[in-house]
Amino acid sequence: MPKQAIPHPILTTPRLRLRQFRAEDAPAMHDCFANPEAMRFWNTPVHTKPIETERVVQRLIDCTPSYYRFWAVADAGSDRCLGLVNYHDGHIRSRRVAIGYMIDPARQRQGLGIEAVSAMLDFCFGELALHRAQAFIHPDNTASRKLIEKLGFRCEGLLRHNLRVGEDWRDDLLYARLATDRPGDA
Ligand SMILES: CC(C)(COP(=O)(O)OP(=O)(O)OC[C@H]1O[C@@H](n2cnc3c(N)ncnc32)[C@H](O)[C@@H]1OP(=O)(O)O)[C@@H](O)C(=O)NCCC(=O)NCCS
Repeated sequence: MPKQAIPHPILTTPRLRLRQFRAEDAPAMHDCFANPEAMRFWNTPVHTKPIETERVVQRLIDCTPSYYRFWAVADAGSDRCLGLVNYHDGHIRSRRVAIGYMIDPARQRQGLGIEAVSAMLDFCFGELALHRAQAFIHPDNTASRKLIEKLGFRCEGLLRHNLRVGEDWRDDLLYARLATDRPGDA
């Protein structure tokens, strides 16, 4: 008998619905991926053509949950896609993942990033029973550092030339939170 596909988990917060990506989300995600400010610290160059985003969105739909999973961060009322959250570098059996996130520049600084990432972490530490979540963040990415520090992640050091974007090598700060960390200990 063919294996039954496990449905993509839907995570809800007061203002958001985190759900599986759909092909129709491509124009909204293009607003993010084509924006040089939003892409300044991302791990790929700025998109110049909608087709690039359409291809990426297809990859976000086709997740391999034991290794990586993307959620579209959608407005709870209109269901419009406002960005993404993900875990990747996943070793679910080893109970460790890395995480990533992006919010549409037009909707930043409204607390949506914290709301979305917090919901995904609850899922990771709760449903998936993970032990460690980590984030790789460029030292100049103030917004991302603030967000992750507010969520109880601790900085564990600088990784030199950890990421290659186009022809450039970039440093990253390694942040992590353990399931056993208590809020306020960071
Ligand atoms: C990081 C990101 C997701 C934050 O999204 P957001 O919805 O604006 O975040 P929030 O509104 O929840 O804010 C989280 C904290 O960061 C702070 N913050 C957000 N943007 C900031 C900025 N540009 N400069 C300084 N602080 C900022 C907020 O003030 C808030 O702290 P506070 O509650 O003490 O005020 C968003 O800036 C983004 O998409 N950046 C581009 C993609 C990216 O770099 N992703 C991370 C890769 S590691």
